[in-house]
Amino acid sequence: MTAYNDARFDSAFAGFLEHYPDYAETAHMDALRAHDYSRLDRLDHVYLDYTGGGLYADSQLEAHRNLLAGGIYGNPHSHNPSSLAATALIEEARDAVLTFFNADPAEYDVIFTLNASHALKLVGESYPFEQGSCYLVSYDNHNSVNGIREFARRGGADVVYVPVRQPELRLDAELIERGLTQQTSCPHKLFAYPAQSNFSGVQHPLEWIDRAQGLGWDVLLDSAAFVPTNPLDLSRVHPDFVPLSFYKMFGYPTGVGALIARRTALAKLQRPWFAGGTITLASVQDSGWYHLAPGHTGFEDGTVDYLGLPAVTIGLRHLQRIGIDAIHTRVATLAGWLLAEMTSMRHSNGSPMVRLFGPGDMQDRGSTIAFYLLDPAGAVYDVRRIETLAGQQHISLRTGCFCNPGDGEVAHEISRDEMAGCFEEPDVPVTLTDCQRLIHDSTGKVPNTIRLSLGLASNFADVHRFLRFAIGFKDRDSSDVGPQEL
Ligand SMILES: Cc1ncc(COP(=O)(O)O)c(C=O)c1O
Repeated sequence: MTAYNDARFDSAFAGFLEHYPDYAETAHMDALRAHDYSRLDRLDHVYLDYTGGGLYADSQLEAHRNLLAGGIYGNPHSHNPSSLAATALIEEARDAVLTFFNADPAEYDVIFTLNASHALKLVGESYPFEQGSCYLVSYDNHNSVNGIREFARRGGADVVYVPVRQPELRLDAELIERGLTQQTSCPHKLFAYPAQSNFSGVQHPLEWIDRAQGLGWDVLLDSAAFVPTNPLDLSRVHPDFVPLSFYKMFGYPTGVGALIARRTALAKLQRPWFAGGTITLASVQDSGWYHLAPGHTGFEDGTVDYLGLPAVTIGLRHLQRIGIDAIHTRVATLAGWLLAEMTSMRHSNGSPMVRLFGPGDMQDRGSTIAFYLLDPAGAVYDVRRIETLAGQQHISLRTGCFCNPGDGEVAHEISRDEMAGCFEEPDVPVTLTDCQRLIHDSTGKVPNTIRLSLGLASNFADVHRFLRFAIGFKDRDSSDVGPQEL
């Protein structure tokens, strides 16, 4: 493949199809984009932040609106017709989640939460961490998984991190095996890793679930970044806890996530409190008298988003109609092309224009791509400035650390000592920007990253526009794209 210097759409598209003929199998998604996501082209917007949040289709909004406009729905915790109608919608959404992930209702339960972070907090605060328990966690994790370590430490558990390795930011299978086999005497042990990195796009092996469970671990598979574009079949893999956010899968609604949990694992959790909706009965005449409701009911505090939940059913059916395999093919072909083109872009002096953080091809990775743009001398174009310049061309990219400090610290080779400067005074809050500046000023490193990510409404025109934008930096000195915006 040659460097991306062909500004003509048609010949670029022909070249793409020649290398990625499978894209043609997703033609129905072009029609979908034209009628259900028409605002993208109408507003001339190139959306490349699907790992941040998915996009909703017009038809989802319409179906949800029609449903709400056509019924009377009240608070679910009663037996009047409006309450029963809301309960039916909630249970329909629960069934739709189980069906979508091919989860046996005898094995799995679904707890509706506010988002993936809330699902993770439910596990963290309820897991029986105690003296000698173990929390094994990969460097590659979202902060909402890292945050569980606070519950673990408070309970007296050992927290053990497994690093990712340069250059692909993958976990070392031997270190995982060592972590899983060394902690033999923990009374309760939880192993947490993401099915797909929200930083590098790396997809970690799902085989570790079975291996870890065989060694007595409970497994938390953070699936928030994986499920929008990959099939997760819970009849083939059986993680104990699966947190996710629905807005990442289909854009709307934004206030609902889920913890899909094995019933056996759920039974181990000890809720730290009770609330309206989570008990069968409580009395005020003895402060110890209450009965927690079994299953998901015991974990859904107060009133769930009963008007938002039908939009989850609608969203899941929308994905089913398109086909998660087709979505996967679509983004994998586009990302494959992007990776190949980005890594072959050169300045006239032959130096690379792009530095990737993560795998350079589509082997065991998703369509989330983290990178820097480099100038002819190898200096990093200011990351925030790139975001601004992309924004001026109606291209939505994301920059920052993506709440994944582990991948960021390894990608940017920030040592423990260099990081320590940001935590010297525990009572003085240091912002991410302060810390980035501190590290940059003392080491010259740029601890900031650009990320683009594809999703179900992505098409070739989007990636073409991005590549045109990127090639616009060819032969430009980093100082002339604008000032440092750290
Ligand atoms: C892998 C991963 N886990 C968890 C989360 C947290 O999701 P939310 O912010 O919806 O709680 C995110 C969000 O980006 C994520 O990418």
